[in-house]
Amino acid sequence: MALKHYLQFKDFSRAEYDHVIERARWIKAQFKAYQKYWPLTDRTLVMIFEKASTRTRLSFEAGVQQLGGTAIYLNTRDSQLGRGEPVEDAAQVISRMSDIVMIRTFEQDIIERFAANSRVPVINGLTNEYHPCQILADIFTYIEHRGSIQGKTVAWVGDANNMCNTWLQAAQVLDFKVHVSTPPGYALNPELISGVDPAHYQIFADPMAACRGADLVTTDVWTSMGFEAENEVRMKAFADWCVDAEMMAVAHPQALFMHCLPAHRGEEVTSEVIDGPQSVVWDEAENRLHVQKALMEYLVLGRV
Ligand code: CP
Ligand code: NVA
Repeated sequence: MALKHYLQFKDFSRAEYDHVIERARWIKAQFKAYQKYWPLTDRTLVMIFEKASTRTRLSFEAGVQQLGGTAIYLNTRDSQLGRGEPVEDAAQVISRMSDIVMIRTFEQDIIERFAANSRVPVINGLTNEYHPCQILADIFTYIEHRGSIQGKTVAWVGDANNMCNTWLQAAQVLDFKVHVSTPPGYALNPELISGVDPAHYQIFADPMAACRGADLVTTDVWTSMGFEAENEVRMKAFADWCVDAEMMAVAHPQALFMHCLPAHRGEEVTSEVIDGPQSVVWDEAENRLHVQKALMEYLVLGRV
């Protein structure tokens, strides 16, 4: 298949998501049944981390090994990436020695430039702007628990960050709606959601109003990686954007709660909610593994 990257959620069509989700379901079932599935034997994944990670590193590294391949971890501190080697040059070299690359970095522009100079597929493992692998896992988790997400309503409470932007792209591709509530001064950046039809989202000043009737309530940290200097100001600004039992009570009775993790109990979510019966955060974290195995299979081998 022609070289394809996964840099934003909108890079795949609905038909491609149908395929990847079906493959993730099958790959997960094989894994749970202790069945070997090694389609990426002798293939190498290079993982480049310019920010911290637990889940992303673990799920990609374990995932490629479970598919028969090998993972190599590079970070900014120990490689020439942190010493000013142009990203275009790094892409040329790294992609001659590997079969697929995953990058976690700062600006989206960095990963776009890397991909433009890469001979192999590049996956976005989180940028300041987007986190498509996480939303893929979230949607897979929703489908596992509740069936199709088409026509459903997702309430986003908190920062208009990489997760929020990606939810909006997903709403456009998979045909659902997002209710977005952010504190004053932390609104969506229209440039980052260009192409998303306004029919797929609605802005609410009041987070309770955003949650009313929602099928899924979700949030994320108030301060994302790279924005630590703003933490003190954000703690005050976001104080009313904590997902609590009252918010869950106005959502649909069958509503789920999700959080990409790591979470800060008592800040963006109460313990009662994240550790409560509507929360599916552990399934959500585990599903990173299964969906990313399907994603790597698709990008390296095409439709199998
Ligand atoms: N959700 C997520 O991407 O977690 P990590 O930062 O631990 O990779
Ligand atoms: N929005 C968070 C997600 C962490 C997985 C961040 O970018 O730090």
